[in-house]
Amino acid sequence: TTIVADTGDIDAIRRYHPQDATTNPSLILKAAQLPQYASLIEDAVDYARQNSDDPAEQLEDAADKLAVNIGVEILKLVPGRISTEVDARLSFDTQASIAKARKLIRLYQEAGIGPDRILIKLASTWEGIQAAQQLEDEGINCNLTLLFNFAQARACAEAGVYLISPFVGRILDWYKAKTGEEYQGKDDPGVRSVSEIYHYYKKHAYETVVMGASFRNTGEILALAGCDRLTISPALLEELSNSETEVSAQLSYSGEAQPRPAPLSEAQ
Ligand code: E4P
Repeated sequence: TTIVADTGDIDAIRRYHPQDATTNPSLILKAAQLPQYASLIEDAVDYARQNSDDPAEQLEDAADKLAVNIGVEILKLVPGRISTEVDARLSFDTQASIAKARKLIRLYQEAGIGPDRILIKLASTWEGIQAAQQLEDEGINCNLTLLFNFAQARACAEAGVYLISPFVGRILDWYKAKTGEEYQGKDDPGVRSVSEIYHYYKKHAYETVVMGASFRNTGEILALAGCDRLTISPALLEELSNSETEVSAQLSYSGEAQPRPAPLSEAQ
């Protein structure tokens, strides 16, 4: 399992040496409060002012440029990729998502970073998946997030996206709120969802990478050891680094690849 840090905090990334890092707008907002990022904010604001006189456009440009500036700093520390998210308000608009993804890639390119170090994070809505399919064709790899169920995962695999981030914790949150029950390890409904998706992908030899995301406790992480990648918050990385628990792979698939079913888009 490849460990990915789910944070924009450069100090945390320096501490845990992840392969990749993932961000989202709330993680960028949190990271932006770090004193060492003050100059990145100034740079983003200057960029936005030079680009437009319209306040709404300036706000959007500044937010995009800040996410990229933080991504650039993170890429100085991680050997792999940074995930930068397209604003979730565009999740139901394929063309607007594509335009935003291209803009983020252009901003990275202006900072000397090629698309091979970036994953564009998009919501796993139907429109987001269509956007990803087109972006992948252009050589822009995508990370499909806000993925809560098997149908979303299947559509992503069939669209040939580079990576999915099936959520664990938000599924658990929902079940706990509904039933008032506690769930542990393999019985955690979020763990069950990721494990089902993982086995389906491996059984049908889809190349899309499965990266479990949105963790609430280390039990969930240990129950998904063996998954292609796991993106983990600094708090849980800290807990794991202090824990004596032996980690053994829970997910694996060793059988022959089975034929793939007809794509969902062709289903009657
Ligand atoms: C990563 O793709 C997600 O943005 C992140 O793991 C979400 O975690 P949360 O459910 O704690 O917000």
